[in-house]
Amino acid sequence: MTKVLRSVVTGVGGYLPDEVVTNADLAKFVDTSDEWIIERTGIRQRHRAAPDQAVSDLAVEAARRALVAAGKTAADVDLIVVGTTTPDLTFPAVATIVQRKLGCPIGVAFDVQAVCSGFVYALSAADGFVARGRSKCALVIGAETMTRLMDWTDRGTCVLFGDGAGAVVVEPMEGEGTTADRGLLGFALRADGTKQDLLYVDGGVSTNGQIGHLRMQGNQVFRHAVVNISEAVFAAAADAGIEVSDVDWFIPHQANQRILEGVAKRVGISHDKVISTVAEHANTSAASIPLALAKGVEDGRIKPGQMLLLEAMGGGLTWGACVIRL
Ligand code: ACO
Repeated sequence: MTKVLRSVVTGVGGYLPDEVVTNADLAKFVDTSDEWIIERTGIRQRHRAAPDQAVSDLAVEAARRALVAAGKTAADVDLIVVGTTTPDLTFPAVATIVQRKLGCPIGVAFDVQAVCSGFVYALSAADGFVARGRSKCALVIGAETMTRLMDWTDRGTCVLFGDGAGAVVVEPMEGEGTTADRGLLGFALRADGTKQDLLYVDGGVSTNGQIGHLRMQGNQVFRHAVVNISEAVFAAAADAGIEVSDVDWFIPHQANQRILEGVAKRVGISHDKVISTVAEHANTSAASIPLALAKGVEDGRIKPGQMLLLEAMGGGLTWGACVIRL
């Protein structure tokens, strides 16, 4: 049988900044309550980066942990893809800043901007290098400082987001071309730019020259989320050649407990197969999936060889799903 090159996840790492902000902390300056936030979202707390921590600092910590888990060093890395919507600077890319801070050799480094779908998009971009033999050791990172984009007077958004980073090491390995292979087995990526007004930031380099604040019609995004994500989940499973029932762990983007339960129910995944970190991390945008993956691996639930299904939806609107055999 012809061998195929697969992009295999060989190490996972997550990093959360030290400061924890509880719902009660927020209720001191915005008209909300712990009860409302928990009931509508499942969120109990979020982490916030220190004023002197840039998103690249969070990314570097997560990347270091992923490299250790993979038995690799910075010297091995030839590709860095960072999914982020909160870069240190307008340019250069966070990926090249991470490259410098880690001390990686000259290679390929770039960012992917797909907001909360950034990690799934970044994995797909890295797969384009690794599975074609153009990278031997890739770092794929989701990293965000979403608290820096908040309008702290808007209770409809400021209670939802947190900061953090997650990373995976991806390496090429020969497989048999079957679903028994380890690696990134299937993707479904989607975007619908006509839905921009539902979720966007009201500032930017080439418009008003501002950083801007996150604006969201939460209930409208919610309406699209479950249906759109479910379609992508089935499409990614079909792309991989598996049934959703083959999935050992469902690792959704952690925006809202009600959305992730709604998607799991619609696609037929039981709640005991869902990794949920939304209570402790809140919505960390592109970082939420690799952070949830890292948590599941670290606490021993997710094991090598298991089938994982990742999904996300974010501003754009963008959304997508990915099937991985770990
Ligand atoms: N505390 C108390 N009350 C609040 C708060 C709050 N923090 N926020 C909103 N409310 C109020 C509203 O003002 C409204 O009051 P009204 O009825 O008097 O006008 C009421 O609660 C209901 O508001 P809705 O927005 O309809 O509430 P909903 O049940 O939809 O929950 C939420 C809001 C949590 C935002 C939900 O819609 C959601 O999770 N949406 C999806 C978010 C998402 O997935 N985003 C995508 C990823 S993010 C990214 O890409 C960056």
